[in-house]
Amino acid sequence: MKLKATAKSIKHAASIIKKGGLVAFPTETVYGLGADALNPRAVAKIFEIKKRPAFDPLIVHIAEMEWLHKLTRQVDKKALILIKKFWPGPLTLVLLKSSLVPDIVTAGLDTVAVRMPAHPVARQLIKFSQTPIAAPSANLFGCLSPTTATHVEKQLGKKIDLILDAGKCSVGVESTVLSLVGGKPVLLRPGGLPVEEIEKAIGKVVRHVYWQASKSKNKKIQSPGQLPSHYSPRTPMKLIKSLEQIPFSNDTGVLLFKKPAIKIKVGVVEILSEKGDLTEAAANLFSALHRLDDAGVKIIYAERIPAVGLGSAIMDRLQRASFKE
Ligand code: TXA
Ligand code: MG
Repeated sequence: MKLKATAKSIKHAASIIKKGGLVAFPTETVYGLGADALNPRAVAKIFEIKKRPAFDPLIVHIAEMEWLHKLTRQVDKKALILIKKFWPGPLTLVLLKSSLVPDIVTAGLDTVAVRMPAHPVARQLIKFSQTPIAAPSANLFGCLSPTTATHVEKQLGKKIDLILDAGKCSVGVESTVLSLVGGKPVLLRPGGLPVEEIEKAIGKVVRHVYWQASKSKNKKIQSPGQLPSHYSPRTPMKLIKSLEQIPFSNDTGVLLFKKPAIKIKVGVVEILSEKGDLTEAAANLFSALHRLDDAGVKIIYAERIPAVGLGSAIMDRLQRASFKE
């Protein structure tokens, strides 16, 4: 069932969470599929419904700082600086976990990923539920992430108890995941908070280009979700350097960063931001990919995007969407 997010429907959603059910809810990044993070049976349902491998841990969402201290063993100075500056918002911190966090949430790791979302509906849902909420993106494993309630409905509709609808997500790409458990901070996933902003606050961050590292078998994947092929449309996708590479055909779909200088004669064209604005492009990314995927074209050509600021997160998703073994 899909309900418009109101105080009443959010309270109903919280009662489902408390009873061990699943609710899809909006955050500023993407829609999440939430369960009570302290209830292992409820969390197990997330893995089952998403067809997510058990080795891929979940992010725990909180609305109040006291929960951070209950869920972790250590919150160091750098973590506190980042939290003060960027929470609530699209930043997930990986910290040492406390014994309160069930193993199924962290896939047996000694660390837990915690995020305080900024979206008012997410915050209310967590507060009314009186428990932290474990939530991956509300899509089938490896598929395109949902930035509208309709995206969630298409992929998971009948399998979950409730979808809270609050329209389109404003950021449009998942949170930035940063590990603070080793000596140096490590970027595990570029996302809605540009790594440049993080570096301004705490200094150098190790950028682990995981999907490339994982191509070579000897390099260990640091975040289990760092699979090279992810966020994929069903339609094959190819990254291109120049628009001249696009063959003119009705069977072709094209994803452009900005308004093209030349006319492109193909089946469908999606432009992420007419004026080439990265924030706007990120917000439109998954919706554009969903539309291209539903258009019935045989191949999608995607234009490269400058990998700075939010562009790194967009390029990361495009690289993985077009990755071939
Ligand atoms: O914006 C977001 O982060 C969204 C919304 C719903 O909050 N959530 C999301 O969750 O994207 P998910 O499950 O699709 O991605 C979580 C990522 C995965 O790559 C996972 O491997 C990583 O976070 N992760 C979670 N716990 C971790 C841990 N303890 N150590 C390292 N990586 C972890
Ligand atoms: Mg995901």
